[in-house]
Amino acid sequence: MRIFADSADVEEIKKLADLGFISGATTNPTLIAKAGGEPGEIYAQLANMLEHVSAEVVAEDADGMYREGRELSSIHPNIVVKIPFTPEGLKAVRRLKADGVRVNVTLIFSAAQALIAARVGADFVSPFIGRIDDIGYSGVDVIRQTAKIFTLHDISTQIIAASIRHPAHFIEAALSGAHIGTVPPAVIWKLLKHPLTDIGLRRFLEDWRKLQESKGK
Ligand code: G3P
Repeated sequence: MRIFADSADVEEIKKLADLGFISGATTNPTLIAKAGGEPGEIYAQLANMLEHVSAEVVAEDADGMYREGRELSSIHPNIVVKIPFTPEGLKAVRRLKADGVRVNVTLIFSAAQALIAARVGADFVSPFIGRIDDIGYSGVDVIRQTAKIFTLHDISTQIIAASIRHPAHFIEAALSGAHIGTVPPAVIWKLLKHPLTDIGLRRFLEDWRKLQESKGK
């Protein structure tokens, strides 16, 4: 599973990208509003750092989504246009794909939606696992079913596990066959921390220091 940052915070993503394991970022209108600033500028800055930056359209009709999608994709070759799973969205996906634009279909809550999105040509589908859990179902099950369907039917669309809320979600998404996990920075920092790593390192360094002292260094 590749690891993306689910954020539009350029400074925060810079810090994470420096660590070397983040290859993309996914944004949505809520995340852009939270970051503040000019959306086009944010997408360009992120796309200069990362190979995949999902940027979402806000029009609700197919023509509007198509137009916005073309504009977003012209900002940088690393931009992937995010289209919501609606009947109008599906029409827009088809048209954008015909123009060679990469598309991520978002707001996916079932394996059936994921299969349909794949059939109109989506390069990526984004099931929202946390929001599925919120209504009493299993988000990870949706990933597992989708991964199985894509394997059985030889579908190359990649699954982006989104709406990851905690470290256990991250591990479960990887185990259930997601190709990519997009993770909020706060959860990424939690993944990097382990108390036994800290205790172990303190002990190693302390023992090393004692050894040096015993040699009179
Ligand atoms: O990637 C989708 C994500 O941003 C939604 O997360 O936590 O608002 O369900 P959440």
